[in-house]
Amino acid sequence: MSVLASPYQASINGTTTIPGIARLGQHDGQIGRTILDVAGVSKRFGKHLAVDDLSLTVASGEVLGFLGPNGAGKSTTVGMILGLIQPTAGSIRIQGKDLRGQPSLVVDNVGAIIENPAFYPFLSGRDNLKAHALAVGNIPAARIDELLRLVSLTERAGDRYKTYSLGMKQRLGIASTLLTRPALVILDEPTNGLDPAGQREIREIIPRLADEGHGVLLASHMLHEVEQVSDRVLIVDRGRQVTEGCVDDLLRRGGYIEVVVPNADPALALKVIRPVPDVEGVTVDGHRLVVVAPPECGSLINRALVERGMYASAITPKHHSLEQLFLKLTGEPSVPDT
Ligand SMILES: Nc1ncnc2c1ncn2[C@@H]1O[C@H](COP(=O)(O)OP(=O)(O)OP(=O)(O)O)[C@@H](O)[C@H]1O
Ligand SMILES: [Mg+2]
Repeated sequence: MSVLASPYQASINGTTTIPGIARLGQHDGQIGRTILDVAGVSKRFGKHLAVDDLSLTVASGEVLGFLGPNGAGKSTTVGMILGLIQPTAGSIRIQGKDLRGQPSLVVDNVGAIIENPAFYPFLSGRDNLKAHALAVGNIPAARIDELLRLVSLTERAGDRYKTYSLGMKQRLGIASTLLTRPALVILDEPTNGLDPAGQREIREIIPRLADEGHGVLLASHMLHEVEQVSDRVLIVDRGRQVTEGCVDDLLRRGGYIEVVVPNADPALALKVIRPVPDVEGVTVDGHRLVVVAPPECGSLINRALVERGMYASAITPKHHSLEQLFLKLTGEPSVPDT
């Protein structure tokens, strides 16, 4: 992995909270102003439209999960954001400025890990970070210790890089990218090739980045990874946006309520439930009724049943897992968390 570090200055100032953006509670940082604004971007490779009219934003303090099956166009989009691939159409703004003709915008504001980082095998993790800090310039020594802590490498910081596991190498790569406090951090499949423990360690770091005020774009085909650490998720398939929203909202969209009426005529229960406000549909399966309705509708359903002398033994709001939603939307299985 080579670190495409943004070698230079980028402070994260002026954070203001945008109301209405739901948080998942993975981290407590504030979501602030928009750092990245991708608007209607497309990329054509010959006849193949790899990215088709895609729009996304990332604000400071938030993690946007950029989720899609293999070949969906995630890395191509990341390449365009990094100024490495020229978009066929659309615009990319970083810190409010158009990327076209201003490649220094990426250098000044973006830290990304896209390939193998260049570290010296015989130097320790700490000395490697020092070497990177020297190359970048103006990095206080305390920042190195702070970053080693952030990526949980403090205890192994004195060991030679060549003795590090793949996960540790990856975490050192992330630390190196953060030396300059880039406003936007892009992680493209950051857990590729890592074992479950290594994957978990990376997942633990990602919310910390948002807590520190970085905006994080996490491109991944691994649903669990994205689901666990993202504030919002954008699902792409074949270059196109399929859906976008907070993880909770996406889950609620496929919501239903399971109602069990053991001692009543299910056909009558169906007749009673169907007119309840917000109920979109009811199907009967023995004494179990599947009611398509928002979860808060459960109490109204209960009251309607009681008024007709029917008593439910269970009224349970259910939702499709993000896995099911992902499958439904893209027709692709996501790679399970091993
Ligand atoms: N340089 C290129 N020339 C031609 N086609 C390309 C090029 N780069 C990518 N593609 C095609 O564009 C599509 C999107 O590829 P991309 O690598 O962006 O997908 P991805 O979502 O990152 O997939 P993965 O999960 O496998 O990393 C694919 O069909 C790919 O073959
Ligand atoms: Mg990719």
